[in-house]
Amino acid sequence: MREHRPGKGEPLYMPFIEERTTEYLIDIHTHIAPNVDDGSKSMEMSLAMLRSEAEQGAKVVFLTPHSSAFGGAWTAHTLKRMQEVQETAVKEGLPVQICRGCEIYTNRQRIEEILRELKDGILPSMNGTRYILAEFSVHRGNMDDAKYCLRRYLEEGWIPIIAHAERYCRTFATVETVPWGRIS
Ligand SMILES: [Fe+2]
Repeated sequence: MREHRPGKGEPLYMPFIEERTTEYLIDIHTHIAPNVDDGSKSMEMSLAMLRSEAEQGAKVVFLTPHSSAFGGAWTAHTLKRMQEVQETAVKEGLPVQICRGCEIYTNRQRIEEILRELKDGILPSMNGTRYILAEFSVHRGNMDDAKYCLRRYLEEGWIPIIAHAERYCRTFATVETVPWGRIS
């Protein structure tokens, strides 16, 4: 493994892993379900994305639309699109297993509502497990709110995965100060 250490003025990224350390990939965050959020615009585009996943070594791909694609009438629409992707992938013989999830935009104002929606199954967890995929505001000064929400997830028995954690370098000044591993 070689770590990429950013120079002065260079954007910060998570350590870059050069070698593959696993036999296959599981992509836990995609916007491949068509016409449900700012991701894929058609089933053709979704299939092209899945083929690209397979070419890059992914054997399991999670569909994780934004949480705004769930709730009210949106839920049925989004679940139907996700199911269509799963069925079409099987029909086309794509060598990837497709699982369901959701990228949950999390903030302190909405955390109790989110927890209720997770409990009621309105917001899907990662393939029906206790793992959930959470994203936060990238604005500076959001650290206390994010830590509070992460603690609430844990208190309610959910295990949060932080979506695109590298974005929070801006929120938390440097990658070393991202506090995700130190929530207690
Ligand atoms: Fe995302």
